[in-house]
Parts: sequence; structure tokens; C-alpha cells
Amino acid sequence: MVLSRDRFDDPSEYSEKYQIRVRDLKKSFRGQMVLKGINLDLERGKINIIIGGSGHGKSVTMKHLMGLMKPDEGHIFVDGVDITALSEYELNSIRMKFGMVFQYAALFDSMTVFENVAFPLVEHSSLSKSEIADKVYETLKAVGLPDIGHKYPNELSGGMRKRVGLARAIIINPEVIFYDEPTTGLDPVATKHVDDMIASINSELGVTSVVISHDMASTFRIAHRIAMLYQGRIIEVGTPEEFRNTTVPEAREFLEVSGVSV
Ligand SMILES: Nc1ncnc2c1ncn2[C@@H]1O[C@H](COP(=O)(O)OP(=O)(O)O)[C@@H](O)[C@H]1O
Ligand SMILES: [Mg+2]
Repeated sequence: MVLSRDRFDDPSEYSEKYQIRVRDLKKSFRGQMVLKGINLDLERGKINIIIGGSGHGKSVTMKHLMGLMKPDEGHIFVDGVDITALSEYELNSIRMKFGMVFQYAALFDSMTVFENVAFPLVEHSSLSKSEIADKVYETLKAVGLPDIGHKYPNELSGGMRKRVGLARAIIINPEVIFYDEPTTGLDPVATKHVDDMIASINSELGVTSVVISHDMASTFRIAHRIAMLYQGRIIEVGTPEEFRNTTVPEAREFLEVSGVSV
């Protein structure tokens, strides 16, 4: 398999196929190199899953994609724009394209579900209170939670909290949604529920989805494209079918220890 098929394209040109393109991304912390030259193309409108074991640099990679961290070297192009070269001010407008669903669905515990979901609009839009309220109820309905606006996060199950986090991410109509380990800590039924939600939001809203996961079963259930991060490098990338047939030893081992039938 060719790791970066379109390596020789100019990634600073707008590409219909790839919304986000990463080139030679490097990052060290206190002398320890965590990202050792990441090359990766993420397909527009598709579910792109980055898999890998704990500590291999998945969350650090995602923070760079979202413009929350600056690399030591390398470039990230979003629709042809190199976001590593932008000022904080310029980044803010790019970030309006992004919705984020963090690990552990970091909701504000002191706010109701309604207030949590409304938060991005209160902060970043000029909509009126009643327009915001309409949008919040519409979005909660879209994630299958129509009647819980008045509740507090600690009154909800883990799966429901994840879906509230998802509602908060999609309320700004993002073009790209980032999910960092969205099913961590959920039982198999709740995991499937969140997976189904990611898939239906992807197809209904036509967004680009970028998901970090260490769960191979979930990954094979919903991914259009899988990339494996191993010790700070992308060692394999392809469709689920291509991935099942990988000959890269570390990727094969990951499949085998995950217990996915291959
Ligand atoms: N802000 C930071 N400062 C220092 N080290 C960090 C920071 N963020 C991550 N690291 C280190 O980078 C490595 C990769 O972390 P991470 O991307 O969170 O892994 P994972 O693949 O589990 O998401 C780890 O060794 C982690 O300790
Ligand atoms: Mg992580």
C-alpha cells in the first residue's frame, strides 16, 4: 500500500478530495520527540479514523489539526490554507469550521444540558435568545435527546453525556468534527449507540469526521479510511478492507491483539 498516494500534489492547493493535509509534522516535549514526521491526508465528507495504542501521539496530532498546538516543524493545510502559519486571530475563523468532541465529554457540570449545548452559540454567534433556544432543541432532538434540556450532566448516563457533547459540537454547523476517543469508558451497547450517531451525523450533515480511537471493532464498524499512528509516525493508511489485509507488522499485531477477526 502506498502511504501517501498524493505526496507529490501541492498540498497548498485546494483539494476536493482531501480537506486536511498534514506534511512532515514534528513535535517534541522537553527533548522527547512525540511526532516524528506525520504525513496524512483526511478525506472530505468521510469518516477518517486514526488508531493507535496509548501514548503514541494521537491526541497531540489532533490538537495540531485543530490549531490548538503549534508544531516544531511541518505543515497542516485546511482547504489549502497552512494553519501552522496563522496568527491566533486568523485561527479563530478557521476554528469556526471545527466541532470538537473531547475525551470524557468535558461538559460544564454547573450548567444544565440546555446551557451546555447553547454555549458555543452564546459565545460565537449573534443569534437572539429565542433563535438559540430553537437551535438547541432542534440539535438535542437530532442526537436523540429531546427532553433533557433542564437536566444537569451528573444526572445523565455516560452515553447520554457523550451525545450532549456531540450536540454541543454540531450546533455551530461545523465542516469538520473531531472526536478524541468518543467511546472510551462506555459499555458495548452505549459504544454502538455513539458509533451509530457518528455515522449518521457524518452522512446527514455531510461533514468531514476525524476520530481518534484504540477500538478496532468500532473502527471497522464506521470508518471510511483508517490511519495507524505508531510511535509518532503514520505506519499504515487505507480503506477498512485494505487495512484488514495490511502486511505492516505493527498494524497486524494491533489487529490481532484487538481480537478483531482478520
Ligand atoms: N502538553 C504536553 N506536554 C508534555 N508532554 C506531552 C504533552 N502532551 C502529550 N505529551 C506526551 O506526548 C506523548 C503522546 O501523548 P498523546 O498524544 O496524548 O498520546 P495518545 O496517543 O494516547 O493520545 C505522551 O508521552 C505524552 O506524555
Ligand atoms: Mg489520547
